Amino acid sequence: MQSLTVKKSGALKGEITVPSDKSITHRAIIIGSIANGASEVKGYLPSEDCLNTLKAMRCMGVDITEKGGLLAIKGGGLYGLKEPGDVIDVGNSGTSIRLLMGLLAPQSFFSVITGDPSIRRRPMMRVVGPLRIMGAQINGRNEGNLAPISISGRRLSRINYAMPVASAQVKSALLLAGLYADGKGQITEPIRSRDHTERMLSFFGAKIAVSGSFVSIEGHGVLGAQKVEVPGDISSAAFFIVAATIIDGSEILIKGVGINPTRNGLLDILREMGADVRLENERMSSGEPVSDIYVRSSRLKGIEIKGEIIPRVIDEIPILSVAAAMAEGETVIRDAGELRVKETDRILTMVTELRRIGVSLEEMPDGLRIAGGRPMFGAACSSHGDHRVAMSLAIAGLAAEGETTVEDTECINTSFPGFKETLRSLVDTHGLTRGYLPSEQSER
Ligand code: S3P
Repeated sequence: MQSLTVKKSGALKGEITVPSDKSITHRAIIIGSIANGASEVKGYLPSEDCLNTLKAMRCMGVDITEKGGLLAIKGGGLYGLKEPGDVIDVGNSGTSIRLLMGLLAPQSFFSVITGDPSIRRRPMMRVVGPLRIMGAQINGRNEGNLAPISISGRRLSRINYAMPVASAQVKSALLLAGLYADGKGQITEPIRSRDHTERMLSFFGAKIAVSGSFVSIEGHGVLGAQKVEVPGDISSAAFFIVAATIIDGSEILIKGVGINPTRNGLLDILREMGADVRLENERMSSGEPVSDIYVRSSRLKGIEIKGEIIPRVIDEIPILSVAAAMAEGETVIRDAGELRVKETDRILTMVTELRRIGVSLEEMPDGLRIAGGRPMFGAACSSHGDHRVAMSLAIAGLAAEGETTVEDTECINTSFPGFKETLRSLVDTHGLTRGYLPSEQSER
């Protein structure tokens, strides 16, 4: 099992890029595969999660080749997919399994999809339920709530569906299924979740309309091949935005990060807490807003975080809780019960692991209460196999006295290959911190 050891760090300085956006990469691969003709995805994310989506599309006969960071996808159109000859295994990727279920339900073939033990514990009924209303024939353990899931492709009818939870994975599955349904369906979200699927479908020419939290899509259209350029992932940048904020004297620039307004809640929250985070060189790329992000260390104060902003920051709450631990006063995070059904129960894992390094925090059914401003002490802690927990704890370790070892860090590759090297580059450029480098150990 791999581990990552981090010592208390001096200032972080320098310019970095972060890996490309995971959500956008999944969508580019899937939508490119069902468009007509040759699409290109520049700067795709070659992380395990996205490679599992890529493998799944290849299993369905799509010709996808990689050269120098560019994916060339020969899309065969909406009806060009072939029956996979084996079970599709998405590994740890919730986005892959949920989006692909929406794509598989209307096909004219049979498929089975599954994933690793974490995926096989996560709820699938949120996608299976509405797909069944559209006419899909889907089975699985626990009446279809748990993978492995089997899908006998069927012709689907349109749906007008009010989603009970704000989930981009559910919305995206229904939009992909909607591409094949008769007529025009409408989906309503309780709070708007990330809208990469809407943007990407529109970029490829689908008939899709968005108005507030309503999205409607027309079936049986034609998607035209496109060239997509994927920006840096704000969820990966988040670890360094928080690191540079909480470590005195830091000053960093993160180049080319996606700042989609449905994803950038962390920036608003950190600014409200007193952080110095600035956007530079804002631009648009393949239908998505992109910017460089400049961060300088600052003193933070605790705040209350709840309601509409939660879906915009859902994946950043583990690292946000590290920022809160360093802030003066109490931070309360509510309305975030969805964290309990992520790669791990992220409320429980963050409470358990941050306590090991001396953070005073309390678990609530839908969030966390964190008493900030107390000293943190390096300790041995575990990621529980959750990539965002692993990286959050490594950043906490930079601010804790002594040495912090995070166990079980292979999972970082699901979203951020090269995390350790990027961290090392920021620590290494500053003389004061030499000798305090993160190190990795392998035990088998
Ligand atoms: C994602 C949606 C979110 C997010 C996940 C990626 C996506 O999940 O937490 O990491 O790419 O659609 P939910 O749809 O479950 O909220």
